[in-house]
Amino acid sequence: MKKILITRKLLKTCEEKASKTFQATFNDNDELYSQSKVVEMSNGCDGILTSLTDKMDADTINKLPDSIKILSNFAVGFGNIDLDAAKKKGIVVTNTPDVLTDATAEIGILLILGACRRASEGIESAKESGWKWSADYLIGKQLTGARLGILGMGRIGQKIAKIAKSLGMIIHYHNRSKLSEEKEQGATYHDNLKDLLSVSDVLSICCPASKETIDMINKETIEYLPKGAVVTNVARGDIVEDEALIDALNRRKVYAVGLDVYKNEPNLNPGYLKHKSAFILPHLGSATKETRTAMANLAIDNIDEFFKTGKCKNKVN
Ligand code: GLV
Repeated sequence: MKKILITRKLLKTCEEKASKTFQATFNDNDELYSQSKVVEMSNGCDGILTSLTDKMDADTINKLPDSIKILSNFAVGFGNIDLDAAKKKGIVVTNTPDVLTDATAEIGILLILGACRRASEGIESAKESGWKWSADYLIGKQLTGARLGILGMGRIGQKIAKIAKSLGMIIHYHNRSKLSEEKEQGATYHDNLKDLLSVSDVLSICCPASKETIDMINKETIEYLPKGAVVTNVARGDIVEDEALIDALNRRKVYAVGLDVYKNEPNLNPGYLKHKSAFILPHLGSATKETRTAMANLAIDNIDEFFKTGKCKNKVN
C-alpha cells in the first residue's frame, strides 16, 4: 500500500476511504502544519494530499524527500503550489475540478446579491431592535437588467452566468478565448479586460490566479468600471490589488464589494472591515457537505489513479 500524508483533517467518510486506499497519516487535531513540518512528516511517504492552506513553494518542494511523487491538492485552485518546482523534481500535481462548480457558483451569486442588496448593513440593522423602516431605507441595486461582467468564463463562471441570467441580468465575459455558442448561452464576449470592465455594472471574478491574472484588478483597471459598479470575487484574492479596491470604495467609484477570497488569507486587509458596503465571507466557496466530500474523494482517487496507471486526468503540471 502506498504511504500518503494528509495534511488537513477531512470529513469522516473521506478519511475512511483514504484508510482503505492507502497507508495514510491523518491530522486528527487539524493542526496547521508549517512548511518544515510538512517536509518532516512526509518522510517515507509516496505522496501528499495537500490543502490550499499548505504553501508548497519552491523551497519547500525542493526539501521534500525523493519518494514523494504526487501532490494531490484538495481544491480546484493550485496557486499554493509552485508547479514548475514540482515538475522539475518529477512531482505530479493534481486538483479537484468539476465537483465544486455548483457550490462555488452558489457563493458567487450570494456575493452578488449580498453586495448589491446591502446585506451586511441589513444584518447589522436587523440585530438592533427598532430599526426605522422608510421608503428609502437601505435601498440597494436591483439585479434585473443589470450587466454582469464575468472575468474568467470557466465552469464556475458559466454556472454563475446561468443563474444570473435567470435573475434577469445581462451577461458579458472576458476569457482567453471565445466560447462556443452552446457554452456562451447568449453572453457577449470581450477579447480584452478594458472592454469587459467598461460594461460591468457588477463584476464577478472567476478566473484562476496565475502570473497573467495577479493584480489584474488594480488602480488603473478599476477606472474602466462604470461609476458605482459592484465588484465580487469568488476566485482568488491575488487577482485584486486590495488598496486600489478599498480606495475605490472610499471614493464611491465602487458602490459595494462581495468577497469570499483574499490576499494573505485569513488575514484580510483591514480596510475592508471598515466598510459597511463590503459583504465579506471567509472562503466558503466549496463549503457544503456534498462538495467537500466529493473533493476529498476525488483528491484520493487522483492519487490512486496516478499510482495505478502512472497518469492522472486531473494533472495540472
Ligand atoms: C477553493 O478555493 C478551491 O480552489 O477549491
